[in-house]
Amino acid sequence: MSTGRSFYITTPIYYPSDVPHIGHGYTTVAVDTLARWHRQAGDDTWMLTGTDEHGQKMMRAASANGVQPQEWVDKLVSESWFPLLETLDVANDDFIRTTQERHEERVKKFVQAIHDRGYIYAGEFEALYCVGCEEFKTDSEIVDGTGPFEGLKVCAIHSKPLELLQEKNYFFKLSEFGDRLLELYATQPDFIRPESARNEVVSFVKNGLKDLSISRSTFDWGITVPWDESHVIYVWVDALLNYATAVGYGAEPDEFDRRWPAYHVVGKDILRFHAVIWPAMLMAAGVEVPRGVFAHGWLLVGGEKMSKSKLTGIAPTEITDVFGSDAYRFYFLSAIAFGQDGSFSWEDLSARYQAELANGFGNLASRTTAMIERYFEGVIPPAASPEEGDLRIQRIVAEAAAAADAAIERFRVDEAIAAIWTIVDALNLYITENEPWALAKDPERRPRLETVLYTAAEGLRALAVLLSPVMPESTEKLWIALGAAETIGRLQDQPIREAGAWGVLRPGTSVNGLAPLFPRVEQSA
Ligand code: MSP
Repeated sequence: MSTGRSFYITTPIYYPSDVPHIGHGYTTVAVDTLARWHRQAGDDTWMLTGTDEHGQKMMRAASANGVQPQEWVDKLVSESWFPLLETLDVANDDFIRTTQERHEERVKKFVQAIHDRGYIYAGEFEALYCVGCEEFKTDSEIVDGTGPFEGLKVCAIHSKPLELLQEKNYFFKLSEFGDRLLELYATQPDFIRPESARNEVVSFVKNGLKDLSISRSTFDWGITVPWDESHVIYVWVDALLNYATAVGYGAEPDEFDRRWPAYHVVGKDILRFHAVIWPAMLMAAGVEVPRGVFAHGWLLVGGEKMSKSKLTGIAPTEITDVFGSDAYRFYFLSAIAFGQDGSFSWEDLSARYQAELANGFGNLASRTTAMIERYFEGVIPPAASPEEGDLRIQRIVAEAAAAADAAIERFRVDEAIAAIWTIVDALNLYITENEPWALAKDPERRPRLETVLYTAAEGLRALAVLLSPVMPESTEKLWIALGAAETIGRLQDQPIREAGAWGVLRPGTSVNGLAPLFPRVEQSA
C-alpha cells in the first residue's frame, strides 16, 4: 500500500547530560504520532531521534560526576534515554548517537566539503558563551543576573552567568547566506511553521548574519577538525549534521536519496539553529535544504519554561506510571496548540483524563461492546436501512477523517485530535438519544437496535484507526475487542486516509470482552 511518497521526520537530538523530562517527551511523542500517521497512510516513512553527546556541557556533567564523558553518556543513554522511548511507546526507525563512528566519519566529510568549497576561514574571536545553550550570545540575548548572580551578565534562557571566550577558531561564512535564506523563506512559505516562528526568523535574518565560529581548541570532547587536529568541531555543527549522517550522507547515496530531505520538529528555543544555520550549511555543501522546520512551544510549569536546570523538571514516568503512555501522549498532544506554549498541571491532566478518556472515549467503547454482548450474544449485527441520524454519524466520521488528515499535513496534531473527537462526542450523544436499552425491550424495534449498535461499533472502528497514531495501546485493545484483528487485519495496516469510508466492520464478527481502556486512577498527585 506504499504511496511511494518519502516522509522523513526527526526530533532534535537530546543532550544526555541529564535524565529526560516531560518537555523532551513532548517533542518525541509529537514526532512519533506524525510518523505513525504517515506510516499508516502508506508513505515511505522514517523517524529519527537520538542524542547529542559532545560539547562542554557534557564534559562538565561527566566531570561533576567523576567519570569520563564517554562513560557518562553511555550510562545516561542506556539507563534513561533508550528507556524513555519504551515509556512513551515510540516507534522510531533509528536512534543516532553523535559519538557513533558512522556519524563522526560523515561529519568530517561534510565539514571538509564546505572547507574545500571555500566557506571556512581561520580567525580570532572573543564573545560571551552560554554552556547551557552551547552558544555564543548577542546583546539582545543577555540580561542582568538576579539573586546569586546579581551584578553578572546571564543567559536570558538559563539565567546562569556567561563565560568570556577568546580563541583562534575556524569560521563558517554564514554572513554570505542572508539573501539565499530570505529567498528560501519567500519561495517556500511552509519552510518555517508556524507563521509566528517564520516571522521571527525572517526579521532576524533581515538584520544581517554574522559568520559562525565552528571549532574549539580549548577542549577535546568532540569530532576533530579534519585539516587541523588541534580543534574539535563546534557541538551544534556536529549535532545538526545528525539528520544527514543518519540516513547515509557521504556513505550510502541510495539511502540518502531515498530519505532526504527531512522535516524537523524542534522546540522554539532551537529554531534559529534549524532554520538559519542548518540550511546555510547545506547550501554551502550543495545539498538540498530540509522540507521544513516546525517549531513548537514550551511546556511551562508555574509559568516558566520547565527545565532540569531550574529544578522544575518532571520525569515522564511520573505521569505514565499513574495514567499510562496513551494518556501522556493524548494529553500533551491534544491540550496544547502545537506551536504555542502550554502550562502543565496535574489538575488539568487528571481532569482531561477523566472527562475525555475515561468518560468520553473509554465509556463509548465499553458500553457499545457491552450492549453488543448483551443484546446480540456478542455478534456485531447487520445494519438495516439507515435513518437521518445514522447517516449523520456517517457524515461526521467522513468529515472528521478528512479534517484530521488535513491537520496532520499542517503538523497540527492538536487539531487532528479535535477533529477526531467530534466522532466521540457525536457517538456518545447518538447512543443517549437512541436509547438502545429501551429499543431492546421491544422485539418489533429489533432492526432499529441492530442499526444503532452497528453504527456505534463502526464508528468505533473508525476511531481505532484514526487514533492509533496517538494512542497505540488502547486502540489496539479496542481493535481486538471489535474482532477486527481477525476479520480485517492488523490495526497498524489500516489505511488511515481511508478511515472515513463507511461499512468496513463486518456484521457477524464476534466481539470480545473489553476491560476499561482508561481505568479510574488513585489521586495521589
Ligand atoms: N542538543 C540540542 C539539540 C540539537 S538538535 C540538532 C538540545 N538538546 S536539549 O536536550 O536541550 O533538548 C532540546 C529539545 O527538547 C527542545 O528543542 C524541545 O524540543 C525539547 N524541550 C526541552 N525543554 C522543553 C520544554 N520545557 N518544553 C517543550 N519542549 C522542551 O537543545
